[in-house]
Amino acid sequence: MNMSVARAVNVDEVRELARRRLPRPVFDLVEGGAEDEITMRGNLDAFRRHRLLPRAFADVASRDSGTTVLGTKLRAPILLAPTGAARVLHRDAELAVARAARASGLGYVHGTVSGHTPEQVAAVDPFWFQLYASGDRPRLLETLKRIADVGFRALVVTVDVPVFGNRERDRRNRLTIPLSFSPVAILRCATRPRWTAEFIRGNLPQRAQPDGRVSPFGTQRQILSSLYPVTADDLAFIRDHWQGPLLVKGILHPADCETAIERGANGIIVSNHGGRQLDRAPAALDALPVIVSAAAGRAEVLLDGGVRRGTDILTALALGARAVLVGRPYLYGLAAGGQEGVERVLEILVTEFDRAMALTGFASTEQIDGTCLMPVQ
Ligand SMILES: Cc1cc2nc3c(=O)[nH]c(=O)nc-3n(C[C@H](O)[C@H](O)[C@H](O)COP(=O)(O)O)c2cc1C
Repeated sequence: MNMSVARAVNVDEVRELARRRLPRPVFDLVEGGAEDEITMRGNLDAFRRHRLLPRAFADVASRDSGTTVLGTKLRAPILLAPTGAARVLHRDAELAVARAARASGLGYVHGTVSGHTPEQVAAVDPFWFQLYASGDRPRLLETLKRIADVGFRALVVTVDVPVFGNRERDRRNRLTIPLSFSPVAILRCATRPRWTAEFIRGNLPQRAQPDGRVSPFGTQRQILSSLYPVTADDLAFIRDHWQGPLLVKGILHPADCETAIERGANGIIVSNHGGRQLDRAPAALDALPVIVSAAAGRAEVLLDGGVRRGTDILTALALGARAVLVGRPYLYGLAAGGQEGVERVLEILVTEFDRAMALTGFASTEQIDGTCLMPVQ
């Protein structure tokens, strides 16, 4: 075990380890949000505005922090969000993430944008798959069939990227979208020789692009360049051709929640894409109660964005979320220590959540409700 990661006592410390290990452009790629990063910071601040009431006299000697999300059992109400950057953080990329999630009894939502194929990740754990849908119906059908054939249990359709958010850190660092490293960006990465050597070993030979840039994503460039706005009809089409549970990721407006449920979504992920799309969008946590009431029990509602503490998870559940997704926290772990780093982050979150449950008087996840929240003036 990488000793520094093993000693990290919270997610913030793992973040600091990642920051020290990564070249600035790569850390910025993970850390950054859109424009003034108001939404990105807002996701974190929204949790800090809440206060939790400790309870005495509760029988919490033995606790069950497990749950079930759309039929899948988890050790705690935590999922790993799809993130397209693992390849630039560690050689084992999504495989390390999937292995860590599995070892931790949690679920990894493997993304369309990835350094590994769906088949490779499904061989570790065919949990859920996140789709950037294409307008090209035959291609979409082919993808849905492939994902079903390899055994992914649920499909998550991301609907908040009709165009890319304006991520100014990446522009300043000369990282272009679809993600590729210009010669200038590569030079800037040379400040971290260990990272650079590993990155080149892991990516360069098979991945040099015809235009001379180095892309860690190879053919994913094609997928990214064909991003387009998902319509309600597209969602209905996907529903017709996907048998398993269907979730929609990137909902903040109650009318969109209604549309998604009408078109057959079983799960709604309240998310602003970690503040990477529309800056000044509301914090995910602030949007959560409205979406929970719009869903009205017809779909499970998950919260995504800004979760860094077990108390954050408890707060989200108290406001009606079935579970939360984390993105950057496990990417920090991956950068700091590969699979073990991801496992350390997940262990921290699970342990903190369990402790928060005990201190607020809940013996099981099912008991968590709004009674533990105290309004703050
Ligand atoms: C580096 C990075 C890449 C991401 N790539 C994707 C992606 O390919 N598909 C997607 O639906 N969301 C993507 N996201 C958003 C995450 O799934 C998630 O919504 C976000 O990270 C949650 O916020 P948090 O980082 O504060 O936990 C990405 C986020 C980051 C940080």
